Amino acid sequence: MEQKFIRNFAVIAHIDHGKTTLTDRLLELTGTLSPRELSERMLDSNPIEQERGITIKLAPVTMRYVYQGQEYQLNLIDTPGHIDFNYEVERSLAACEGAILLVDATKGVQAQTLTNLRLAQKQGLKVIPIINKVDAAAAEVERTALDLLSLFPDEKDFLGISAKTGLRVEQVLTKVIEEIPPPQGQDRPLRALVFNSFFHPHLGTIAFIRVVDGQVVPNIKLALAQSKHEFVPKQLGVFNPRLTVVDRLDTGQVGYLATGFKTIADLKVGDTVVWAQDISETPPLPGYREIKPHVYQDIFPQDASQYSDLVTAMDKLKLNDAALKVGPANSAMLGHGLRVGFLGLLHADIIRERLEREFNLDVVGTSPSVEYQLSMANGSEIKISQASEFPDPSLIKEVREPIALVTVVTPVQFLGLIIQSLEDHRGRTVDTQYLASAVKLSYRVPLVEVITDLHDAIKSLSSGFATLDYELVGFEPVNVVKLTVQLNRQDIPALANLVVKDRALVRAKALAAHLKRTIPRHQFEVPIQVLEGGQIVARETVKSFRKDVTAKLYGGDVTRRMKLLEKQKRGKRRMKAFGNVEIPPEAFLPPTEF
Ligand code: GTP
Repeated sequence: MEQKFIRNFAVIAHIDHGKTTLTDRLLELTGTLSPRELSERMLDSNPIEQERGITIKLAPVTMRYVYQGQEYQLNLIDTPGHIDFNYEVERSLAACEGAILLVDATKGVQAQTLTNLRLAQKQGLKVIPIINKVDAAAAEVERTALDLLSLFPDEKDFLGISAKTGLRVEQVLTKVIEEIPPPQGQDRPLRALVFNSFFHPHLGTIAFIRVVDGQVVPNIKLALAQSKHEFVPKQLGVFNPRLTVVDRLDTGQVGYLATGFKTIADLKVGDTVVWAQDISETPPLPGYREIKPHVYQDIFPQDASQYSDLVTAMDKLKLNDAALKVGPANSAMLGHGLRVGFLGLLHADIIRERLEREFNLDVVGTSPSVEYQLSMANGSEIKISQASEFPDPSLIKEVREPIALVTVVTPVQFLGLIIQSLEDHRGRTVDTQYLASAVKLSYRVPLVEVITDLHDAIKSLSSGFATLDYELVGFEPVNVVKLTVQLNRQDIPALANLVVKDRALVRAKALAAHLKRTIPRHQFEVPIQVLEGGQIVARETVKSFRKDVTAKLYGGDVTRRMKLLEKQKRGKRRMKAFGNVEIPPEAFLPPTEF
């Protein structure tokens, strides 16, 4: 196939705007899959994705379509819709020349529409805006077109379709062929972009590739320009959307290589496949980055005897998820567990659910945290993700925290409340743009604020109408301090917290009040002290109680007395003793006021 008859494109959209439905219509229209095969495909997808109504990732698909007597090869590359998978979205877009931006006419432009659009424009893609769901009773096609006009001022009109009924879907294909440029690869030594991967039980790690320059043919030794790993592909092929073997992949084409690697970690998304003999002369494709987790959580089995099952399950999940980073975790309260680095909160939720459903493990997760970068006075650099690792402040020169660029799209009536909330979460304004029916706000906000409660706050302030999306943009210095806790004058490291200096006092008080509420009375008074740098900044006391909880009942009602004693016994079982103070699990959760 000559390059001028190839089109590589993606469909980008806010969640639920109809990307999967449109993809299915295109597969049907081009005869790539029959309706029966389409419903089987649906059954193949992950049950967690189905229930949450989100698609994390679909395979790319090669379609053939005859337009004005000429056959075209249309490669539709799916991008994971959620921003947790931002780097993979970016690399998938880098494999395309164009993108369809699909906007739901009943919702208008939303936050993820804009972050995806920004990513596509950054890659220099030709973006075709299309309005979907024009058949729906609640569709506001005019208003959506006005929103789009503020983003695409040069566009004369916008195609309105119904992915559900198929209305005008054929025109989408015409636009793809006419408006998206063909690939411009060169006939020179091979360079192919790895934009995705998965682990196949028989073929080993499969690389999803876009051939940028040159060709891939069987039985030739290939190498990865970044990792330097070498391999002779066991198989090469295209996605139809099933794996279909071919005997060569030409310049501009999308397909796969079976590398034979035993682990997915050997194949990094964004790496460049080259001919092994030319590795030193072939410059790798730009844009490669190591994927790094942004959100950390400790995961413990509810039943301590299942620790080794948890380790095995996580090893299996890692086979197909190069982004998961796993290390040991220990907690005085919860025993042995794993400290896991995730790409974001959705990624963390999905992994926890998979542990429970696919591996039958009941797990407890601590509240999520971020990674701080520390420059030490002695010139060394360290990274920490929990308060107990925080060194003595006198040894630290600078602390930096991860910063997210947050995009919020909100109807104008909630603007004041949302700006206030962004500022309360230490946000700094970057840009405000008025669309026809909504306002887009861009703010730089510390990631820790975003993952703790900004998302919920924005949703509840706007009764669910505002949408929020974010991407990590770097690290900035921050003045954090460690709050430590003493109960009955003993240090309890597991209760320590890292907080911003400006808010240390408020948070120390909230922490002391939370502990007072959750720690039960003992035979003696339990002083609660929260300290910052050795100074007590908040103090509370849990009063002592009388020895016999039932004494006040004067032995009158026996059943009530038995119940109370039983309750006291249950309470004991759940709690752990630290020295002579017993602490219930709730005390380890963050206070609601944080
Ligand atoms: P994610 O990939 O999970 O982000 O969702 P999506 O963008 O793929 O959306 P999906 O195709 O799952 O569609 C979301 C909902 O909108 C489904 O209930 C679809 O049936 C419905 N839908 C999609 N297209 C249309 C349309 O043209 N008209 C109407 N009325 N409903 C549609």
